[in-house]
Amino acid sequence: MKNIPFIAYWITEESDGSFKSQIIQRSTGDLPQNDVLIKVSFSSLNYKDALSATGNKGVTRRYPHTPGIDASGIVVESISDRFKPGQMVIVTGYDLGMNTMGGFGEYINVPSEWVVPLPEGLSLKESMLLGTAGFTAALSIHHLLRCGQKPDDGTLLVTGATGGVGSISVAIASKLGFSVTASTGKTAKAEYLIKLGAKTIISRPEVDDHSGRMLLRPQWASAIDTAGGNTLATILKSLKPHGNVASCGNVASPLLNTSVFPFILNGVNLLGVNSATTPMPLRLMIWENLANEWKPDFKNIYTKIVGLDEIHISIEKILKSKITGRVILEHSGK
Ligand SMILES: NC(=O)c1ccc[n+]([C@@H]2O[C@H](COP(=O)([O-])OP(=O)(O)OC[C@H]3O[C@@H](n4cnc5c(N)ncnc54)[C@H](OP(=O)(O)O)[C@@H]3O)[C@@H](O)[C@H]2O)c1
Repeated sequence: MKNIPFIAYWITEESDGSFKSQIIQRSTGDLPQNDVLIKVSFSSLNYKDALSATGNKGVTRRYPHTPGIDASGIVVESISDRFKPGQMVIVTGYDLGMNTMGGFGEYINVPSEWVVPLPEGLSLKESMLLGTAGFTAALSIHHLLRCGQKPDDGTLLVTGATGGVGSISVAIASKLGFSVTASTGKTAKAEYLIKLGAKTIISRPEVDDHSGRMLLRPQWASAIDTAGGNTLATILKSLKPHGNVASCGNVASPLLNTSVFPFILNGVNLLGVNSATTPMPLRLMIWENLANEWKPDFKNIYTKIVGLDEIHISIEKILKSKITGRVILEHSGK
């Protein structure tokens, strides 16, 4: 593979146990030698990237490291006949940006099994406006639909609604005809959520029950939950009979304290969502949907485009829940 110099965001573990970020020059020869070398045009910032960038060993075991679980760009070299130089591609999930150098560098080198041809109907930039957040939103909706959920069943609740996964979930679900209730800790952003398609806005404490009751008044036909913890426990107790909740996040807590009553008395389904390991046939189908009938109206989604030299500011903000919508990293390509 070629030896091309490039710049990358670089996290090092210091001798005092702290983690330091800097931008350094690297060479493609230093990357893991896999099948497909890709020049990255865009990446995006996800909550997981912020964890990786700040030394969370549950996400990234080994440092130094370049985060970035998302990348879109152009194939430079490929030893797999599935991809040709010049082809536009997307890589999200698998091990990218976790223990494999990720999209916060101008080049990545990955196994061909991780690479998705850019579907017709999406640009490289749009694919990263979606990124893992959009893919996860779409995957969550896919799981609700495969369990028979229909718009006529009633309200769909989205928690963490102003975040990346939340914003895109609101946009896609509304586009598919669901009546969406958006739960948010930032009620001042209600107008944004309405523009995305939400019918009703509620505040976070309204999905945080501490009554001790095993079941609550049935309110939602289905839900997409990015919070976990007591938020998810509250949703389970508040779903209408035979409702479905797609659990995709843990911003509130990874723990779930519940009883079996929502399941055995109300027949509700708790659906697990893992975008990173989604098998390729389903992955291709989800990206096809995102490029076509599920494609959200991007002009409604708050988007900030940053360069490598600004990404650290957004990383600090996402950890403090201060980001609305999506942050896209554009590589200058020089
Ligand atoms: N399963 C998967 O494959 C997968 C893929 C992508 C992401 N995720 C997970 O999904 C979650 C969201 O990811 P993201 O990239 O969308 O992050 P994000 O952009 O930071 O959005 C998270 C949102 O959650 C809300 N929030 C923050 N703290 C909260 C709390 N204590 N209780 C309830 N809500 C809280 C905030 O929205 P409001 O202010 O509007 O409430 C925040 O904007 C993360 O846990 C992430 O790890 C999972």
